Amino acid sequence: MPLVEVNALTKSYQQAHTRLRETVVDSVSFTLERGETLGLIGESGSGKSTVARLLLRLIEPDSGSIHLDGVDLLSTSDEELRRLRRRMQIVFQDPYSALNPRMRIEQIVEEPLQIHAKECGAETRQRRRERVMAALGSVGLDGSALARYPHEFSGGQRQRINLARALILRPELVVLDEPTSALDVSVAAQIITLLQQLQQELRLTYLFITHSMPLVRYLADRIAVMENGRMVEMADWQQVCEHPQSEMAKRLLLATPKMPLQGDSLSSHPVQ
Ligand SMILES: Nc1ncnc2c1ncn2[C@@H]1O[C@H](COP(=O)(O)OP(=O)(O)OP(=O)(O)O)[C@@H](O)[C@H]1O
Ligand SMILES: [Mg+2]
Repeated sequence: MPLVEVNALTKSYQQAHTRLRETVVDSVSFTLERGETLGLIGESGSGKSTVARLLLRLIEPDSGSIHLDGVDLLSTSDEELRRLRRRMQIVFQDPYSALNPRMRIEQIVEEPLQIHAKECGAETRQRRRERVMAALGSVGLDGSALARYPHEFSGGQRQRINLARALILRPELVVLDEPTSALDVSVAAQIITLLQQLQQELRLTYLFITHSMPLVRYLADRIAVMENGRMVEMADWQQVCEHPQSEMAKRLLLATPKMPLQGDSLSSHPVQ
């Protein structure tokens, strides 16, 4: 059984200016196997982030179904949903706005443990601090970060803090919504390498959202292409890159001047 099974997910919004309903996610279906990376690529406004928000049930679909490990996410009880939410985390594009500027790093990384205290069981302060330290350690930061504030860190370090916060609950699925697009090329490459290491160590499943064909080609096992709310192509990365079927995949490939090959070092192939 796949970790995630999404079937015919649809979401529309009433547009303020025209008062018409616009379908922004239109009958989207896909699965995520444990430990794989599905790259979700498409132009701006094609519905990628809306798919991510629907998947984590941060917003409600008009129709369709989502199963996590066989459990129907859309008709489950609130308590079961809380338990399931622990297993799915999201990292957003902008590492600046994602962190509360008034909170210290220790509080920021610890917060999910407090939100999910019921499911995590009673833990001592000491034990929670150990878990925060371990999460920071896994993203290459040390205890000197604990008492500091977000503004004291660079963009790349802040994205590491976001990752530590996402990983502290030991999720199985991590949705990465353009996690490197706000970063400089060399810093982005370090974060990509870190994401690969974490995936191997923790056996994570990724839904990786991007505009960048080289990046998705480098990272993803399979690639799904979106256009105007529809998934117009989904196949192995090689198939999509070498024999694209949809006009959109061809367009995205053409927009790419240079592509690193799977397995090549990212540092010698800038990804943005
Ligand atoms: N709350 C909302 N109300 C109305 N329209 C919305 C809302 N959220 C998203 N949309 C519309 O849905 C469409 C898809 O948006 P979405 O953010 O999912 O695109 P995206 O593919 O993530 O784009 P980007 O690459 O720029 O992040 C857009 O046209 C957007 O304006
Ligand atoms: Mg988006």
